[in-house]
Amino acid sequence: MPTFAIKPDKPIPVAVLGATGAVGQRFVQLLDGHPWFQPVALAGSERAIGQTYAQACRWLLPTPMPAWAAEMIVVPHDPEAIEARIAFSALPASAAFELEPAFARSGFAVCSNASAFRNAADVPLVLPEVNPDHTSLIETQRRQRGWKGFIVTNPNCTLTGLTIVLKALLDRFGVERLLVVSMQAVSGAGYPGIASLDILGNVIPFIDGEEDKIESEPRKILGSLQEGTIQPANLQISAHANRVPVLDGHLVCLSVQLSQEARLEDVAQALSSFQAPSISRHLPSAPETPIRLMEKPDRPQPRLDLMSGNGMTTVVGRLRPDPLLGWKMAILSHNTIRGAAGASIYNAELLVQQGYIA
Ligand SMILES: NC(=O)c1ccc[n+]([C@@H]2O[C@H](COP(=O)([O-])OP(=O)(O)OC[C@H]3O[C@@H](n4cnc5c(N)ncnc54)[C@H](OP(=O)(O)O)[C@@H]3O)[C@@H](O)[C@H]2O)c1
Repeated sequence: MPTFAIKPDKPIPVAVLGATGAVGQRFVQLLDGHPWFQPVALAGSERAIGQTYAQACRWLLPTPMPAWAAEMIVVPHDPEAIEARIAFSALPASAAFELEPAFARSGFAVCSNASAFRNAADVPLVLPEVNPDHTSLIETQRRQRGWKGFIVTNPNCTLTGLTIVLKALLDRFGVERLLVVSMQAVSGAGYPGIASLDILGNVIPFIDGEEDKIESEPRKILGSLQEGTIQPANLQISAHANRVPVLDGHLVCLSVQLSQEARLEDVAQALSSFQAPSISRHLPSAPETPIRLMEKPDRPQPRLDLMSGNGMTTVVGRLRPDPLLGWKMAILSHNTIRGAAGASIYNAELLVQQGYIA
Protein backbone atom coordinates (compact mmCIF):
# COMPACT_ATOMS: atom_id res chain seq x y z
CA MET A 1 0.00 0.00 0.00
CA PRO A 2 1.39 3.48 -0.83
CA THR A 3 2.21 5.75 2.10
CA PHE A 4 1.71 8.82 -0.10
CA ALA A 5 -0.72 9.65 -2.88
CA ILE A 6 0.38 8.89 -6.44
CA LYS A 7 -0.51 12.05 -8.35
CA PRO A 8 -1.99 11.92 -11.85
CA ASP A 9 0.46 13.07 -14.58
CA LYS A 10 -1.81 15.92 -15.66
CA PRO A 11 -5.05 17.49 -14.36
CA ILE A 12 -8.12 15.30 -14.90
CA PRO A 13 -11.01 17.14 -16.59
CA VAL A 14 -14.22 17.00 -14.53
CA ALA A 15 -17.84 18.14 -14.90
CA VAL A 16 -20.36 19.04 -12.19
CA LEU A 17 -23.97 17.91 -12.77
CA GLY A 18 -26.61 19.98 -10.98
CA ALA A 19 -23.95 22.64 -10.52
CA THR A 20 -26.30 25.46 -9.46
CA GLY A 21 -27.74 23.74 -6.35
CA ALA A 22 -26.52 23.66 -2.74
CA VAL A 23 -24.20 20.68 -3.29
CA GLY A 24 -23.24 21.78 -6.84
CA GLN A 25 -21.95 25.05 -5.39
CA ARG A 26 -19.88 23.18 -2.81
CA PHE A 27 -18.33 21.18 -5.65
CA VAL A 28 -17.39 24.41 -7.43
CA GLN A 29 -15.91 25.80 -4.21
CA LEU A 30 -13.94 22.64 -3.34
CA LEU A 31 -12.72 22.07 -6.91
CA ASP A 32 -11.29 25.61 -7.05
CA GLY A 33 -7.51 25.00 -7.06
CA HIS A 34 -7.87 21.23 -6.59
CA PRO A 35 -4.44 19.70 -7.25
CA TRP A 36 -5.73 16.83 -9.45
CA PHE A 37 -9.08 17.88 -10.95
CA GLN A 38 -9.79 20.59 -13.51
CA PRO A 39 -13.46 21.65 -13.87
CA VAL A 40 -14.29 21.98 -17.58
CA ALA A 41 -18.11 21.89 -17.55
CA LEU A 42 -20.90 23.02 -15.22
CA ALA A 43 -24.21 21.42 -16.17
CA GLY A 44 -27.61 22.71 -15.09
CA SER A 45 -31.35 22.38 -15.55
CA GLU A 46 -33.33 23.77 -18.54
CA ARG A 47 -33.72 27.05 -16.64
CA ALA A 48 -29.99 27.63 -16.36
CA ILE A 49 -28.66 26.38 -19.72
CA GLY A 50 -26.98 29.07 -21.84
CA GLN A 51 -26.54 31.54 -18.96
CA THR A 52 -23.19 32.20 -17.32
CA TYR A 53 -22.82 30.36 -14.02
CA ALA A 54 -22.86 33.77 -12.27
CA GLN A 55 -26.26 34.53 -13.84
CA ALA A 56 -27.74 31.08 -13.30
CA CYS A 57 -26.60 30.40 -9.76
CA ARG A 58 -27.73 32.08 -6.55
CA TRP A 59 -24.38 31.66 -4.78
CA LEU A 60 -24.91 30.83 -1.10
CA LEU A 61 -21.39 30.28 0.19
CA PRO A 62 -19.39 32.76 2.28
CA THR A 63 -16.34 32.62 -0.04
CA PRO A 64 -16.60 34.42 -3.43
CA MET A 65 -17.67 32.45 -6.49
CA PRO A 66 -14.42 31.48 -8.28
CA ALA A 67 -13.83 33.74 -11.31
CA TRP A 68 -13.36 30.78 -13.70
CA ALA A 69 -16.78 29.43 -12.67
CA ALA A 70 -18.58 32.78 -12.88
CA GLU A 71 -17.73 33.08 -16.57
CA MET A 72 -18.53 29.49 -17.60
CA ILE A 73 -21.69 28.95 -19.66
CA VAL A 74 -24.02 26.40 -18.03
CA VAL A 75 -24.40 23.41 -20.36
CA PRO A 76 -27.09 20.68 -20.68
CA HIS A 77 -26.64 17.27 -19.01
CA ASP A 78 -25.48 15.75 -22.29
CA PRO A 79 -22.61 13.27 -21.90
CA GLU A 80 -21.85 13.35 -25.62
CA ALA A 81 -21.24 17.10 -25.53
CA ILE A 82 -19.06 17.21 -22.40
CA GLU A 83 -15.38 16.30 -22.64
CA ALA A 84 -14.47 15.21 -19.14
CA ARG A 85 -13.41 12.06 -17.36
CA ILE A 86 -15.35 12.44 -14.09
CA ALA A 87 -18.94 13.61 -13.59
CA PHE A 88 -19.57 14.82 -10.05
CA SER A 89 -23.32 14.49 -9.59
CA ALA A 90 -25.34 16.85 -7.39
CA LEU A 91 -28.61 15.94 -9.09
CA PRO A 92 -31.87 15.14 -7.28
CA ALA A 93 -32.50 11.38 -7.21
CA SER A 94 -35.32 11.64 -9.78
CA ALA A 95 -33.01 13.22 -12.39
CA ALA A 96 -30.05 11.02 -11.37
CA PHE A 97 -32.01 7.84 -12.22
CA GLU A 98 -31.99 8.84 -15.87
CA LEU A 99 -28.89 10.96 -16.29
CA GLU A 100 -26.21 9.15 -14.26
CA PRO A 101 -26.45 5.89 -16.30
CA ALA A 102 -26.21 7.95 -19.51
CA PHE A 103 -22.92 9.42 -18.29
CA ALA A 104 -21.62 6.03 -17.09
CA ARG A 105 -22.58 4.45 -20.43
CA SER A 106 -20.54 7.12 -22.23
CA GLY A 107 -17.43 6.30 -20.21
CA PHE A 108 -17.61 8.80 -17.34
CA ALA A 109 -16.65 7.92 -13.80
CA VAL A 110 -19.80 9.20 -12.07
CA CYS A 111 -19.22 10.13 -8.42
CA SER A 112 -22.71 10.69 -7.09
CA ASN A 113 -24.40 12.24 -4.08
CA ALA A 114 -27.85 11.16 -5.15
CA SER A 115 -29.65 8.25 -3.48
CA ALA A 116 -30.81 6.82 -6.86
CA PHE A 117 -28.25 3.97 -7.08
CA ARG A 118 -26.91 3.72 -3.51
CA ASN A 119 -28.78 0.51 -2.81
CA ALA A 120 -28.06 -1.22 -6.12
CA ALA A 121 -26.13 -4.43 -5.45
CA ASP A 122 -23.47 -3.63 -8.08
CA VAL A 123 -22.94 0.02 -7.11
CA PRO A 124 -20.30 0.81 -4.49
CA LEU A 125 -21.43 3.00 -1.57
CA VAL A 126 -18.10 4.28 -0.33
CA LEU A 127 -16.44 6.19 2.47
CA PRO A 128 -12.65 6.08 1.91
CA GLU A 129 -12.06 5.89 5.69
CA VAL A 130 -14.29 2.81 5.94
CA ASN A 131 -14.63 0.61 2.86
CA PRO A 132 -12.24 1.57 0.01
CA ASP A 133 -12.21 -2.10 -1.09
CA HIS A 134 -15.92 -1.92 -2.09
CA THR A 135 -14.91 -0.06 -5.27
CA SER A 136 -14.09 -3.49 -6.74
CA LEU A 137 -17.87 -3.79 -7.37
CA ILE A 138 -17.14 -1.55 -10.36
CA GLU A 139 -15.97 -4.61 -12.29
CA THR A 140 -19.29 -6.42 -11.66
CA GLN A 141 -21.21 -3.26 -12.52
CA ARG A 142 -19.43 -2.81 -15.85
CA ARG A 143 -19.83 -6.48 -16.72
CA GLN A 144 -23.54 -6.59 -15.86
CA ARG A 145 -24.53 -3.25 -17.36
CA GLY A 146 -22.08 -3.09 -20.28
CA TRP A 147 -20.98 0.44 -19.36
CA LYS A 148 -17.61 1.92 -20.33
CA GLY A 149 -17.72 4.07 -17.22
CA PHE A 150 -19.32 3.45 -13.82
CA ILE A 151 -21.21 4.94 -10.88
CA VAL A 152 -19.78 5.17 -7.37
CA THR A 153 -21.94 6.75 -4.66
CA ASN A 154 -21.33 8.40 -1.33
CA PRO A 155 -23.82 7.99 1.50
CA ASN A 156 -26.58 10.20 2.82
CA CYS A 157 -25.11 13.19 4.66
CA THR A 158 -26.62 12.33 8.06
CA LEU A 159 -25.01 8.94 8.36
CA THR A 160 -21.55 9.85 7.05
CA GLY A 161 -20.04 10.88 10.40
CA LEU A 162 -22.09 8.23 12.18
CA THR A 163 -20.71 5.44 9.97
CA ILE A 164 -17.10 6.56 10.43
CA VAL A 165 -17.66 6.43 14.22
CA LEU A 166 -19.32 3.00 13.93
CA LYS A 167 -16.32 1.72 11.94
CA ALA A 168 -13.94 2.81 14.71
CA LEU A 169 -16.13 1.06 17.32
CA LEU A 170 -16.81 -2.03 15.21
CA ASP A 171 -13.13 -2.70 14.54
CA ARG A 172 -12.24 -2.51 18.22
CA PHE A 173 -15.26 -3.86 20.13
CA GLY A 174 -17.94 -5.01 17.69
CA VAL A 175 -21.33 -3.24 17.54
CA GLU A 176 -24.74 -4.85 18.18
CA ARG A 177 -27.40 -2.14 17.95
CA LEU A 178 -27.91 1.58 18.04
CA LEU A 179 -30.42 4.35 18.46
CA VAL A 180 -29.81 7.51 16.44
CA VAL A 181 -31.53 10.89 16.78
CA SER A 182 -30.54 13.44 14.13
CA MET A 183 -30.78 17.24 14.18
CA GLN A 184 -30.32 18.20 10.55
CA ALA A 185 -29.45 21.56 9.05
CA VAL A 186 -31.66 23.32 6.50
CA SER A 187 -28.98 23.19 3.75
CA GLY A 188 -29.56 19.43 3.76
CA ALA A 189 -32.82 20.11 1.94
CA GLY A 190 -31.06 21.92 -0.94
CA TYR A 191 -31.94 25.35 -2.32
CA PRO A 192 -34.43 26.98 -1.84
CA GLY A 193 -35.29 23.99 0.35
CA ILE A 194 -37.64 24.35 3.27
CA ALA A 195 -39.70 27.57 3.63
CA SER A 196 -38.40 29.95 6.33
CA LEU A 197 -41.90 30.20 7.83
CA ASP A 198 -41.88 26.46 8.38
CA ILE A 199 -38.48 26.18 10.08
CA LEU A 200 -37.59 29.45 11.87
CA GLY A 201 -38.09 29.03 15.62
CA ASN A 202 -39.19 25.47 14.99
CA VAL A 203 -38.19 21.78 14.83
CA ILE A 204 -39.80 19.45 12.31
CA PRO A 205 -39.73 15.79 13.41
CA PHE A 206 -39.97 14.39 9.88
CA ILE A 207 -37.66 14.26 6.87
CA ASP A 208 -39.06 12.20 4.03
CA GLY A 209 -37.11 8.95 3.48
CA GLU A 210 -34.28 9.91 5.85
CA GLU A 211 -34.87 7.38 8.62
CA ASP A 212 -34.88 4.48 6.14
CA LYS A 213 -31.51 5.64 4.76
CA ILE A 214 -29.97 5.97 8.24
CA GLU A 215 -31.22 2.48 9.11
CA SER A 216 -29.98 0.78 5.92
CA GLU A 217 -26.95 2.51 4.36
CA PRO A 218 -24.48 1.95 7.26
CA ARG A 219 -25.17 -1.80 6.98
CA LYS A 220 -24.04 -1.80 3.34
CA ILE A 221 -20.98 0.43 3.94
CA LEU A 222 -19.86 -1.63 6.95
CA GLY A 223 -20.64 -4.90 5.18
CA SER A 224 -18.04 -7.29 3.84
CA LEU A 225 -17.26 -8.13 0.23
CA GLN A 226 -17.81 -11.84 -0.41
CA GLU A 227 -17.46 -13.27 -3.91
CA GLY A 228 -18.25 -9.95 -5.55
CA THR A 229 -21.29 -9.06 -3.44
CA ILE A 230 -21.74 -7.14 -0.20
CA GLN A 231 -22.91 -9.00 2.87
CA PRO A 232 -24.52 -6.25 4.99
CA ALA A 233 -23.20 -5.81 8.53
CA ASN A 234 -25.43 -7.38 11.13
CA LEU A 235 -26.48 -4.22 12.99
CA GLN A 236 -29.84 -3.18 14.36
CA ILE A 237 -30.42 0.53 13.84
CA SER A 238 -33.35 2.68 14.95
CA ALA A 239 -33.39 6.30 13.68
CA HIS A 240 -35.34 9.49 14.38
CA ALA A 241 -34.73 12.34 11.89
CA ASN A 242 -35.45 15.99 12.73
CA ARG A 243 -34.98 19.21 10.75
CA VAL A 244 -33.71 22.10 12.90
CA PRO A 245 -33.09 25.80 12.14
CA VAL A 246 -29.31 25.46 11.65
CA LEU A 247 -27.68 26.53 8.38
CA ASP A 248 -25.05 23.80 7.93
CA GLY A 249 -24.03 20.75 9.95
CA HIS A 250 -25.91 17.66 11.03
CA LEU A 251 -25.66 16.75 14.71
CA VAL A 252 -26.49 13.17 15.61
CA CYS A 253 -27.06 11.78 19.11
CA LEU A 254 -26.01 8.14 19.23
CA SER A 255 -26.69 5.46 21.87
CA VAL A 256 -24.84 2.26 21.04
CA GLN A 257 -24.45 -1.26 22.36
CA LEU A 258 -20.99 -2.72 21.80
CA SER A 259 -20.30 -6.45 21.54
CA GLN A 260 -17.73 -6.33 24.33
CA GLU A 261 -17.36 -4.66 27.71
CA ALA A 262 -15.23 -1.54 27.40
CA ARG A 263 -13.82 1.17 29.62
CA LEU A 264 -14.46 4.86 28.89
CA GLU A 265 -10.77 5.46 28.13
CA ASP A 266 -10.74 2.54 25.67
CA VAL A 267 -13.79 3.82 23.77
CA ALA A 268 -12.28 7.32 23.71
CA GLN A 269 -8.99 5.93 22.47
CA ALA A 270 -10.65 3.84 19.74
CA LEU A 271 -12.35 6.98 18.42
CA SER A 272 -9.49 9.46 18.66
CA SER A 273 -6.85 7.08 17.27
CA PHE A 274 -8.98 5.91 14.34
CA GLN A 275 -7.16 6.13 11.00
CA ALA A 276 -8.32 5.62 7.46
CA PRO A 277 -6.81 2.61 5.63
CA SER A 278 -3.42 3.60 4.22
CA ILE A 279 -4.67 3.87 0.61
CA SER A 280 -7.10 6.64 1.67
CA ARG A 281 -4.92 8.39 4.21
CA HIS A 282 -2.80 10.71 2.06
CA LEU A 283 -5.27 11.80 -0.59
CA PRO A 284 -5.77 15.56 -1.09
CA SER A 285 -9.18 15.63 0.64
CA ALA A 286 -8.28 13.24 3.48
CA PRO A 287 -8.65 14.92 6.86
CA GLU A 288 -5.52 14.68 9.00
CA THR A 289 -7.75 13.51 11.85
CA PRO A 290 -10.80 11.52 10.71
CA ILE A 291 -12.42 11.74 14.17
CA ARG A 292 -11.82 14.61 16.59
CA LEU A 293 -12.88 13.83 20.13
CA MET A 294 -13.89 16.84 22.23
CA GLU A 295 -14.03 16.77 26.00
CA LYS A 296 -15.87 20.03 26.79
CA PRO A 297 -19.34 19.00 27.95
CA ASP A 298 -21.20 21.38 25.63
CA ARG A 299 -19.42 20.44 22.38
CA PRO A 300 -19.53 19.75 19.47
CA GLN A 301 -21.69 22.60 18.20
CA PRO A 302 -22.38 23.28 14.50
CA ARG A 303 -21.46 26.98 14.72
CA LEU A 304 -18.15 26.36 16.47
CA ASP A 305 -16.87 22.99 15.31
CA LEU A 306 -18.20 22.38 11.81
CA MET A 307 -15.09 23.37 9.86
CA SER A 308 -12.74 20.97 11.69
CA GLY A 309 -10.34 19.50 9.12
CA ASN A 310 -11.76 21.87 6.45
CA GLY A 311 -15.18 20.34 7.03
CA MET A 312 -13.92 16.77 6.48
CA THR A 313 -13.36 15.77 10.13
CA THR A 314 -16.13 14.06 12.12
CA VAL A 315 -16.37 15.72 15.53
CA VAL A 316 -17.48 13.66 18.52
CA GLY A 317 -18.24 14.80 22.05
CA ARG A 318 -20.29 14.01 25.14
CA LEU A 319 -18.93 10.46 25.25
CA ARG A 320 -20.44 8.88 28.35
CA PRO A 321 -22.11 5.73 29.65
CA ASP A 322 -25.70 5.10 28.57
CA PRO A 323 -27.96 3.21 31.02
CA LEU A 324 -29.89 1.61 28.16
CA LEU A 325 -27.34 0.57 25.52
CA GLY A 326 -23.95 1.12 27.17
CA TRP A 327 -22.49 4.23 25.50
CA LYS A 328 -23.74 7.52 24.15
CA MET A 329 -22.24 10.49 22.36
CA ALA A 330 -22.92 13.41 20.00
CA ILE A 331 -21.52 13.36 16.44
CA LEU A 332 -21.23 16.40 14.14
CA SER A 333 -20.39 16.41 10.46
CA HIS A 334 -20.62 18.95 7.66
CA ASN A 335 -23.51 17.91 5.45
CA THR A 336 -22.49 19.61 2.20
CA ILE A 337 -18.73 18.95 2.62
CA ARG A 338 -18.04 15.59 4.39
CA GLY A 339 -21.61 14.50 3.70
CA ALA A 340 -21.77 15.51 0.03
CA ALA A 341 -19.34 17.32 -2.32
CA GLY A 342 -16.21 16.67 -0.24
CA ALA A 343 -17.24 13.01 0.03
CA SER A 344 -17.57 12.61 -3.77
CA ILE A 345 -14.25 14.35 -4.41
CA TYR A 346 -12.52 12.17 -1.79
CA ASN A 347 -14.05 9.09 -3.48
CA ALA A 348 -12.80 10.27 -6.89
CA GLU A 349 -9.30 10.72 -5.46
CA LEU A 350 -9.48 7.17 -4.12
CA LEU A 351 -10.57 5.89 -7.54
CA VAL A 352 -7.58 7.64 -9.15
CA GLN A 353 -5.30 6.07 -6.56
CA GLN A 354 -6.78 2.63 -7.24
CA GLY A 355 -6.34 3.04 -11.01
CA TYR A 356 -10.07 3.17 -11.90
CA ILE A 357 -9.65 6.70 -13.26
CA ALA A 358 -6.60 7.38 -15.39
N1 LIG B 1 -27.85 19.26 0.58
C1 LIG B 1 -27.16 18.30 1.22
O1 LIG B 1 -26.67 18.49 2.36
C2 LIG B 1 -26.97 16.95 0.59
C3 LIG B 1 -26.12 16.05 1.22
C4 LIG B 1 -25.91 14.79 0.67
C5 LIG B 1 -26.54 14.46 -0.51
N2 LIG B 1 -27.38 15.34 -1.12
C6 LIG B 1 -27.97 14.95 -2.40
O2 LIG B 1 -27.30 15.70 -3.42
C7 LIG B 1 -28.20 15.99 -4.49
C8 LIG B 1 -28.26 17.50 -4.69
O3 LIG B 1 -28.79 18.10 -3.51
P1 LIG B 1 -28.89 19.68 -3.33
O4 LIG B 1 -29.15 19.87 -1.89
O5 LIG B 1 -27.76 20.36 -3.98
O6 LIG B 1 -30.24 19.99 -4.19
P2 LIG B 1 -30.63 21.36 -4.93
O7 LIG B 1 -30.09 22.54 -4.19
O8 LIG B 1 -32.09 21.27 -5.16
O9 LIG B 1 -29.87 21.27 -6.37
C9 LIG B 1 -30.23 20.37 -7.38
C10 LIG B 1 -29.51 20.70 -8.68
O10 LIG B 1 -29.99 19.85 -9.74
C11 LIG B 1 -30.64 20.66 -10.75
N3 LIG B 1 -31.83 19.95 -11.23
C12 LIG B 1 -33.00 19.76 -10.55
N4 LIG B 1 -33.86 19.00 -11.28
C13 LIG B 1 -33.23 18.73 -12.45
C14 LIG B 1 -33.60 18.01 -13.62
N5 LIG B 1 -34.79 17.38 -13.73
N6 LIG B 1 -32.72 17.93 -14.64
C15 LIG B 1 -31.51 18.54 -14.53
N7 LIG B 1 -31.10 19.23 -13.47
C16 LIG B 1 -31.95 19.32 -12.42
C17 LIG B 1 -30.96 21.96 -10.05
O11 LIG B 1 -31.11 23.01 -10.99
P3 LIG B 1 -31.88 24.38 -10.58
O12 LIG B 1 -30.86 25.25 -9.88
O13 LIG B 1 -32.31 24.95 -11.86
O14 LIG B 1 -33.02 24.00 -9.67
C18 LIG B 1 -29.73 22.12 -9.18
O15 LIG B 1 -28.62 22.50 -9.96
C19 LIG B 1 -29.55 15.36 -4.08
O16 LIG B 1 -29.64 14.08 -4.66
C20 LIG B 1 -29.44 15.27 -2.57
O17 LIG B 1 -30.27 14.27 -2.03
C21 LIG B 1 -27.60 16.59 -0.61
